[in-house]
Amino acid sequence: MARYEATASAPVNIACINFTSSRYWGKRDTALILPTNSSLSVTLSQDHLRSTTTSRADASFEQGDRLWLNGNEEEIKAGGRTETCLAALRKWRKEVEDKDTSVPRLSEWPLRIASYNNFPTAAGLASSASGLAALVASVSQLYQLPQSASELSLIARQGSGSACRSLFGGFVAWQMGSASDGSDSLAVQVAPKEHWPDMHALICVVSDAKKGTSSTSGMQKTVATSTLLQHRIKHVVPERMEEIERAIAAKDFDSFARITMRDSNSFHAVCLDTEPPIFYLNDVSRAIIAVVEELNRASVVQGRGLVAAYTFDAGPNAVLYALEENMPVVVNTINEFFPQTLEFPDPFHMLNKTATRPEGFN
Ligand code: ADP
Ligand code: DP6
Ligand code: CO
Repeated sequence: MARYEATASAPVNIACINFTSSRYWGKRDTALILPTNSSLSVTLSQDHLRSTTTSRADASFEQGDRLWLNGNEEEIKAGGRTETCLAALRKWRKEVEDKDTSVPRLSEWPLRIASYNNFPTAAGLASSASGLAALVASVSQLYQLPQSASELSLIARQGSGSACRSLFGGFVAWQMGSASDGSDSLAVQVAPKEHWPDMHALICVVSDAKKGTSSTSGMQKTVATSTLLQHRIKHVVPERMEEIERAIAAKDFDSFARITMRDSNSFHAVCLDTEPPIFYLNDVSRAIIAVVEELNRASVVQGRGLVAAYTFDAGPNAVLYALEENMPVVVNTINEFFPQTLEFPDPFHMLNKTATRPEGFN
């Protein structure tokens, strides 16, 4: 029986998590997911946090695509984002099939897609980025599409904006573009991770609970009500993008850290400026900020550079960047003040789930 399957997650460059140094928060087109500003992020290695997605096409499946997330079926809504991504991938597959009539017509067969996150979903650890990137990567592998990662990023973007950057490893920019059809709103790699091998990241899980305000609805409210966002879009982010790209090119940790922390704080200020206000940080998040600021202050007083940078996406969980030589100090400090934040996730326990197939997948 004809059955085709592909799993994406382990290979470098795809389906990673990214953590933002200059943020995306606001859409100028909600259907196409076109952002109000460009953004830049660092894609973390997949050793710890990752989405693993398996897609299968089979002529004998009952009609209709189906998707399971962490073992539970998620409805693929008509006209929704997942459906948009699958339709776009099918269109490209059909082009392959029309060119070469000997290849199987997978585009006509129903899909079964199963994805697992080995870290908290919808908790501000960018699960929509790794999840939708893994979905696009997995189906594009199944379909053996010839398109480049940047072209695929056009599709991942329509699944979740931040997902477009997760198709690349290293330092990645999402160029906002100007075309009304979104054809130039895509991700490009600014530098591979080998460019700056000393750059390390530490994830502090403050809470694994699903956040109260999803990124999608949060940014919609911000666009509708925040005047500070308008200032950020026009006067803050464009310059910051250039500065951070220069800092990465020069491997200038101090500049990278300063911009990253300022952008995190600017983003959370914009959330607070939203009506009603959105609180993604909690007391532990703010205590982590205070501890990192103190570490940095003490280091600068002694004539050295910054030790670490904190950044928080749309949730209370911190990502700390530090150069390898400084990571022991950072880990010890976090262990001393916030030991519970380093205990999660349990990657081995959660990774094993990847092996199980939800009922209905086969
Ligand atoms: P986060 O901060 O984790 O990115 P979001 O509010 O942006 O939170 O998005 C969370 C949503 O992303 C989930 O409710 C789910 O719809 C989607 N998602 C998360 N992980 C996956 C995955 N592995 N595969 C498909 N969709 C996913
Ligand atoms: C705070 O990409 O999750 O992580 O496009 O609506 O799915 P949708 O939102 P999403 O927003 C991410 C916001 C952020 C910052 C960033 O990743 O740049
Ligand atoms: Co998200």
